[in-house]
Amino acid sequence: LALVLVLSGCGKKNEDSGSGSDKVYRIASDATYPPMENMDKDEIVGFDIDFLKAVMDEAGLKYEVKNVGWDALLESVKQGTEYDAGISAITITEERKQSYDFSVPYFESTNMIMVKEGSDIKSAKDLQGKKIALQSGTTADELMTDILGKDSKGIKRFESNALAFMEMDSGGADAVVADIAVIQEYLKNNADKKYTGILDRDSFTSEYYGIAFPKGSELAEKLNPAIKKVLESDKYKEIYGKWIGG
Ligand code: ARG
Repeated sequence: LALVLVLSGCGKKNEDSGSGSDKVYRIASDATYPPMENMDKDEIVGFDIDFLKAVMDEAGLKYEVKNVGWDALLESVKQGTEYDAGISAITITEERKQSYDFSVPYFESTNMIMVKEGSDIKSAKDLQGKKIALQSGTTADELMTDILGKDSKGIKRFESNALAFMEMDSGGADAVVADIAVIQEYLKNNADKKYTGILDRDSFTSEYYGIAFPKGSELAEKLNPAIKKVLESDKYKEIYGKWIGG
């Protein structure tokens, strides 16, 4: 009997460690948000992608990243069936904490308003009565809904931020509200369009990105120490410099 117990004990142990080391974690990202995440031909690239690699290497875990839409990402990470985590410039909010576990914060951000140069929009309150393009279900959406009211006709919601930029380009919007790094990247790459970015720190405060996990995920516990290590490393500075700049 003792032998049987020992053997079954061993078997269980092997199974656990086996599945642990072979497991390929599935990470979702909405890769339409440069410089944070974007598709470069068939390859997913960006700050988050390099950061994730540094963290997973540090933790010694295998993973694959898949490009999924923002809505699908939020929904499937919540369910925890298809993906083990999401990395996608996801702001840690009190409301989201009800539905997800978050890693420690790894990036400070805020929302920014993009307008045409010379626009009469100078701050968030000037967006009253204007047409604002933004990505649906983001903190930009929450903030503008708060400022303009739930039934505001001015908010034009899009599935991806790339579509919000297109709306602005085609003249269908007076402003885009999105994360600062994303607006600044767009300004840099589209100087000919004569847009400018407005920071309104009274209306848009600091936000912090976290990796999102299904509630009760063990992966969060595994990654937090690795994230802290990477945050303190030169690697982080290098990744920051590469994608965000100075
Ligand atoms: N930080 C904002 C939020 O959490 C926007 C994130 C959008 N990310 C993306 N990959 N499209 O709501």
